Amino acid sequence: MTSGKSRIWMPFTQMSQASPPHMVVRGQGAYLELSQGKRVLDAVSSWWVTLHGHGRPELAEAIYKQALELEQVIAAGYSHEPAQKLAKVLVERLPKGLEWVFYSDDGSTAVEVALKMAYQYWANRGDKQRQGFLALEGGYHGDTLGAMSVGDPSLFNPVFQPLLFGVTRLPRPITWTGDLEVEAKEAQALAQARKVLEQNPTAYGALILEPLVQGAAGMRMYRPRFLKALVELVREFGLLVIFDEVATGFGRTGKLFACQWAEVEPDLICLSKGLTGGAMAMAATVANAKVYEAFWGDQNSPQDPTFYHGHSFTANPLGCAAALASMKLLDQTKVYGEMAAWHQEGQAQLQGIERLSQFRIQGTIGAMDWAPQKGAKHNDLASLKEAFFARGFLLRPLGSCLYLLPPYCITQEELLGVYGAIGEVMTA
Ligand SMILES: Cc1ncc(COP(=O)(O)O)c(C=O)c1O
Repeated sequence: MTSGKSRIWMPFTQMSQASPPHMVVRGQGAYLELSQGKRVLDAVSSWWVTLHGHGRPELAEAIYKQALELEQVIAAGYSHEPAQKLAKVLVERLPKGLEWVFYSDDGSTAVEVALKMAYQYWANRGDKQRQGFLALEGGYHGDTLGAMSVGDPSLFNPVFQPLLFGVTRLPRPITWTGDLEVEAKEAQALAQARKVLEQNPTAYGALILEPLVQGAAGMRMYRPRFLKALVELVREFGLLVIFDEVATGFGRTGKLFACQWAEVEPDLICLSKGLTGGAMAMAATVANAKVYEAFWGDQNSPQDPTFYHGHSFTANPLGCAAALASMKLLDQTKVYGEMAAWHQEGQAQLQGIERLSQFRIQGTIGAMDWAPQKGAKHNDLASLKEAFFARGFLLRPLGSCLYLLPPYCITQEELLGVYGAIGEVMTA
């Protein structure tokens, strides 16, 4: 029952079939250095978090300095400057109206917090009907129970379905293809959403979605105008809007936050991954005044509206210090707004490779689909991971989707090198 000497139970991994993990001794810029001396280019920013690359001295120094002052403190009744400062910095940069920062630890907890806030918002207002959630088909919001409930059922979670609460799913048009039917698909999806809302106009409290890019579903992209129209529609019916920008935040889609492409503001936004530039585990759920004020009241009243939620590491000073340093680096770079053009150049090299299609780009994310071999039952893309690794690239396909989501320190030449390797592997 063991895999070598390691005692680690790895995430998303069948341990009985797992190869021993690659031991990483150092990360530097876009590269990871393995114990045998091999270097691999981390083209997925180590699960989409390493915004500025590995081993950034600015982040390391901020964490070290903070650790000498205060490494951890209870966050109820106590606070500290990095937490206060970070909240201010986030509020200044977030879409307008998002003003109240609730810290937690990872993307899933940021989502849980938003779901609980949205649910209690209606309870605090004395509305007993609006208990349902709407979500988009194909959505992924994390692996805790609430986050799994609002996420699409997937191959990861059938065993837990009895534990999850019911969610009504709205269709999302796949509009990256740029085909002529895009508008028709969007109109159809919106009409279906309207029908759902008209059938039960007061049953839903909130809509949750990943704006513009459904990451774990396979980098499925949709247009800002659909996002805007959908948000306007659900607002017509009084729902709260939650944007899960755990993956899309901090420049990933080419703007600081994905919702800025559509010029729509949510009532709640979930942030994590890039928040600390990948240096510390941290998350935040940021609410607007409308949500916050619904929790304002007398703790001793029978309807006590307090939000009773927290985590041991809430507002951890090291995380806050890393996030402040990361925000500073983010202010100094414009590359996330320019990387789409590099992806375009890279994808142009791959046109014509038979089984590759659905090329798509949103800011720093470039993706494509790999079709199964004719007559084959399964897509063999996952098995190509080793071929990329052998060439010095960390790529981790999602089903039939191969994507690049590099750190912002990658050079254009390095990014084109990844596309070059994809071309080699796919034609081999
Ligand atoms: C959109 C989105 N939300 C939430 C999560 C969950 O984040 P975490 O893995 O940090 O719990 C993810 C993780 O990939 C994500 O992509």
